Amino acid sequence: MCGIIGIVALSSALKESLGMVLYRCLKNLEYRGYDSVGYAVIDNSGKLIVRKSKGKIDDVYTKLGFNKASGSIGIGHTRWATHGRPSDENAHPHTDCYGLIAVVHNGIIENFRELREWLESRGHVFKSETDTEVVPHLIEEFKKLGMDSYTAFKKAISVLRGTFAIIAIDIDAPDRIFFAKNTSPLVIGFGDKAMFIASDIPAFLDFTNRVLVLYDGEVGYITANQVFIESVEQSALDNTPPRTKPVSYDHRVRVIAWSREEASKGGYPHYMLKEIYEQPQALAQTIAGLREGVDEAIELLRKAEKVVFVAAGSSYHAAFIGRLAMINLGGVWSDAIVSSEARWYVSGLSDRDVVIAVSQSGETIDTLLAVREAKKVGARVIAISNVVDSAIPRESDVAIYTRAGPEISVAATKTFTTQIATLLYLSVRLGLVKRAIGEEEANTIIQDLTRIPKAVERVLERYGNAVKSLASKVFEKISSCYYLGRGLGLGVAMEGALKMKEIAYVHAEAYPAGESKHGPIALVEKGFPVIFVSLGEIDRELIESNIEEMKSRDAITIAITPKGFEFKSADHVIRVPRVHPYVLPIAAIVPLQLLAYYVAVNRGYDPDKPRNLAKTVTVV
Ligand code: BG6
Repeated sequence: MCGIIGIVALSSALKESLGMVLYRCLKNLEYRGYDSVGYAVIDNSGKLIVRKSKGKIDDVYTKLGFNKASGSIGIGHTRWATHGRPSDENAHPHTDCYGLIAVVHNGIIENFRELREWLESRGHVFKSETDTEVVPHLIEEFKKLGMDSYTAFKKAISVLRGTFAIIAIDIDAPDRIFFAKNTSPLVIGFGDKAMFIASDIPAFLDFTNRVLVLYDGEVGYITANQVFIESVEQSALDNTPPRTKPVSYDHRVRVIAWSREEASKGGYPHYMLKEIYEQPQALAQTIAGLREGVDEAIELLRKAEKVVFVAAGSSYHAAFIGRLAMINLGGVWSDAIVSSEARWYVSGLSDRDVVIAVSQSGETIDTLLAVREAKKVGARVIAISNVVDSAIPRESDVAIYTRAGPEISVAATKTFTTQIATLLYLSVRLGLVKRAIGEEEANTIIQDLTRIPKAVERVLERYGNAVKSLASKVFEKISSCYYLGRGLGLGVAMEGALKMKEIAYVHAEAYPAGESKHGPIALVEKGFPVIFVSLGEIDRELIESNIEEMKSRDAITIAITPKGFEFKSADHVIRVPRVHPYVLPIAAIVPLQLLAYYVAVNRGYDPDKPRNLAKTVTVV
């Protein structure tokens, strides 16, 4: 959840403005963490300059002199603290004892304590509490043992245990940046004025869209016009260089279709609003692109005794909805487990089962670890992700990609709705194969799936302003509220509540509507907002009586429901276009995304950078 960037400049213009280019790339990575920021460059006199500070990049921009830094190579880091509180000394880059090597890192080095003890016993002095700082000292130590810069770097990497994306510079190798990748994401960008390496593609999309995604266990270096990659084996803490094998990679270079426009705000005040309004396009692209991997996935699902979803955050809520589709349309028993809880359930899995890992980033460590647990018992794994070649798809048997484009906002929106569309499509295709649903119903659902981008557009056009006024009229001073639903509506209620918590910091809880009388209703008093999500014919009357119960306690009731459901009693009704019930969640969540967004903005919060959260959590 930190953002790292490395640049080897080719053009003299870029060398002159290296600090500004580092700044722009780090700005594009801020969603990965913003506790502190720093950079290191080897300037034109061959000196290593390191500048770093606690705080967001724009707050420390002048202090760090981004506009003054120049040189041939540079690295940068924007941090989300894991080991060591946010502070100047814990900010990256970290250096060796003599300030000749600088390193930035994203991930967790699990054996850093024993490495630090070993290094301190050999006279190294540490300046921070971080796990990362062992890396420059290891490089320094292995150089002392006679290794050249790159061999010492590889050796340092080979003694690390844990998850990491690491890039390093050494004044003894002033024309190259060393890199290593294990579990945490790392991608190379082939620019015509410079070579880039970063945690994520948007970092350098202003400069190039030719991308190479690195795989676990790969190390190497980039120069201004060359990339060298090899795989490295783990080794012991001694003076023997690690075993490596060269890696060919030409076939892995991709041109990313994300335009610069896509990765910028595109005129909206926040990435989140842009991405909410991008959902029609994201859905259309995803539904049109549902081909590669689908047949292989169906082949696995057809034989599955049970299907278990593993996911975190909003992806878990998509999985919760996907689970209902898999049971009722796909004709296979299914469950949805929060990734971090999966190890309690794995013993119930076998090689006759299929796990569907839902992760927009494809890098969430909890979900990656759940996938590894499932594979240990022989379960086959299908990954649903938005980032090609990310870790979870790579470790799965089959990968199916949503085509939502880059989602920069920390709060998931378009990746959530495109995940639902993908899971629904899979369930319908499976249902046809297993004869769990008829051709007619399958065709209706697929037809409504192709209609849903327009339906979402209508909801945005028709309710954008209504929800904005609801946000100020009803939620101005609210500190807690309920989201109640049944079945598919519960999955939407859960996601709506998470949005309100994530970005508006309102204590919003989602409950099965039928549960509200078993306790939660005790909190309801005059003016307490209760949002109902009612999507199914089968429980319309039940929801109606739930609304009555809440109104009799002077709650403010809001109903999200398809056209044709006449909820006479709710104080506010937001109608979504009438499509097949299983397609409805995609439209029903949109007003709730907007509601959370406007409540957050009304309270002066930045919806793109919610406190304490990061876009991708790569620490357990
Ligand atoms: C959280 C994000 O950290 O991770 C959420 O803030 C996201 O938006 C969750 O839903 C799961 O992430 P992913 O990438 O596995 O879908």
